[in-house]
Amino acid sequence: MEKINIAIDGPAGAGKSTIARLVANELDFVYVDTGAMYRAVTWSVLKADLRPDQEAEVVQVATRLDIRLVPGKDGQQVYVDGQEVTAAIRSAEVTGNVSRISQIPEVRRILTDKQKLLAADKGVVMDGRDIGSSVLPDAELKIFLTASVRIRAERRFKEIQDDRPEVTLEQLEQEIASRDRMDEQRETSPLVQAPDAVLLDTTEMSIAEVVERILELCRAKVGGK
Ligand code: DC
Repeated sequence: MEKINIAIDGPAGAGKSTIARLVANELDFVYVDTGAMYRAVTWSVLKADLRPDQEAEVVQVATRLDIRLVPGKDGQQVYVDGQEVTAAIRSAEVTGNVSRISQIPEVRRILTDKQKLLAADKGVVMDGRDIGSSVLPDAELKIFLTASVRIRAERRFKEIQDDRPEVTLEQLEQEIASRDRMDEQRETSPLVQAPDAVLLDTTEMSIAEVVERILELCRAKVGGK
């Protein structure tokens, strides 16, 4: 297929990364998980014993960080300054702090610049919160994926049962609702559906159905040119 850029945005747990990775595989495009980039900065900040409110120091960390996203057979691997952090950036500590790090405008600017560069040659499926609205406003296809808070909590519950057996479904629902609020209410690039994005509510759709729908939309875009 002709190379285009595909932006996939939506709230936490809507299935963005799974769907984006599968769509990228089908099309032989590059998958870019921008949430992993915010997590990588957060992980480095915590490792340096800094707090999210030490903005100047956090920005310094984000500026000098070398973040690499490498496709692997079990999904995307994340490296920070050469160290593999794929699992470490999913820890509860990183998850609990990442919204605050991603509210810092200068951090967003630094990561947005990196993301634009990654997509410059087209053929990218990029997922996040502000891709269609701010990072790639010219993306040929924009998808806004959503699902009810309950179903998103249930999906995450299944995913993390081995790593965090103490967590209840109700706790996850609260965590997801509170992360949604922070992502929607921040001043810089809040989570918002771009006016030209296609809304897909996946509450009652299987992963395969969502992937097929996006591939159909791609074919329509490319064929329609
Ligand atoms: O998709 P995720 O849960 O890995 O994202 C982690 C956090 O990063 C989430 O709180 C929102 C933030 N984020 C963002 O602000 N902008 C993006 N483009 C991607 C993620």
